[in-house]
Amino acid sequence: MPHFYARKIDKIAYPISKDGFLFSLIANNIKYDDNLVLVRYRDFYFFFIQQNRGDKVLVKYNKHLKCSSIDIVKKALKIYMELCNADVLFHNLNQKKDKENLSPYLLSPTKENISNLYKKSNYLSIEIGFGSGRHLLDLAQKNKDIIFLGIEIYNRAIEQVLNQIKLLDLKNLYIINADCRILFNILDSNVADSIYLHFPVPWDKNPSKRVFSKEFLKECERILKKGAFLELRSDSAEYFAYALDLARDFHLFDIKKSINSQARIISKYEARWKKQNKDIYEARFILKDSKNYVNNVESNFNFTNLDIKKILDSSDLKLFGDNYFLHIKNIYKFDNGYVLFVLFGAFSAPSKIYLLVNNYGNVEVLGDIIKTEANIKSLQLIKKWSVNN
Ligand SMILES: C[S@@+](CC[C@H](N)C(=O)[O-])C[C@H]1O[C@@H](n2cnc3c(N)ncnc32)[C@H](O)[C@@H]1O
Repeated sequence: MPHFYARKIDKIAYPISKDGFLFSLIANNIKYDDNLVLVRYRDFYFFFIQQNRGDKVLVKYNKHLKCSSIDIVKKALKIYMELCNADVLFHNLNQKKDKENLSPYLLSPTKENISNLYKKSNYLSIEIGFGSGRHLLDLAQKNKDIIFLGIEIYNRAIEQVLNQIKLLDLKNLYIINADCRILFNILDSNVADSIYLHFPVPWDKNPSKRVFSKEFLKECERILKKGAFLELRSDSAEYFAYALDLARDFHLFDIKKSINSQARIISKYEARWKKQNKDIYEARFILKDSKNYVNNVESNFNFTNLDIKKILDSSDLKLFGDNYFLHIKNIYKFDNGYVLFVLFGAFSAPSKIYLLVNNYGNVEVLGDIIKTEANIKSLQLIKKWSVNN
């Protein structure tokens, strides 16, 4: 992650802007020794974390609030270094080229953006956790009439694939930076022709983190069209057995299993496992029939004004619903208000956002809220601390 260490840095007066970057505010954690610096650039915003580490100061990109271009973050850190006259000991801010990588093929995770994809073609194919993108890029090159959607959480993988999309001049491959377990909730029903899940992280020690789960299969059953399929490839016999076991309750799937079947294209991870002579397990879950689903995701939610005093006075900042929660994890103070770091959503797939609350209680949301039912319901819990409550 982009960062620098300095022997010392000067205090600067916020807000301050340079070269299109606005350093809006610095906010201090009310409990711990760390600060957030909010940076805005065009439509982007992100935080730096500024911490004292012994006799040094560390300023680093805060990955909780994702900026779609690490090059923009690096530029911002370099400018910040200058503005605060940093006596720099170390940095990793060199850019290969002076590029910002603002690709039109990187979509923010909204229902509208995804709906636009259905309109571009009758065929939609999805790959989850595409990593190096070998498989996805190959499919997109060979099937120009199909729209592909890649879902990934790893920034570097996303940047690399966006570069390839540009180099190969692909017009049918879109990327969303999101946890598929959350994003799937806002996809419409009966829209996808295929879903590829190749070499998911097995998480043998922490199965709750697995992509494959009952909820995931339920969503695949809903999202896929009749005759469409979910394809799982894995090097883990344990994960494979677990996936097949879960699928036993899903009578709408026809399951075709194979071991060491030839892959369409060998992905980076498959190549690694083959080198180690591991067996490769494949299951295709083909949807025999599709059901009609009622789309009951309520997507309108606005924050009411918050009473920050109520929050500060509260002994417990965790609230719970049936299968969802909201937790104000950290509170930071700045001249004109507070920044709240909030975890929320389903227990099985939590999300993070920052809320900027000014001294009048007005709330600005920093971060993407994927409007799933669990996310909306959990955010409504915050009304406990609203001005009118
Ligand atoms: C083991 S790698 C496999 C990459 C690629 N499919 C291959 O075969 O080479 C797993 C990938 O899944 C991504 N991933 C893990 N959990 C995810 C999630 N919940 N949603 C989307 N992507 C995820 C990881 O960032 C990583 O790139």
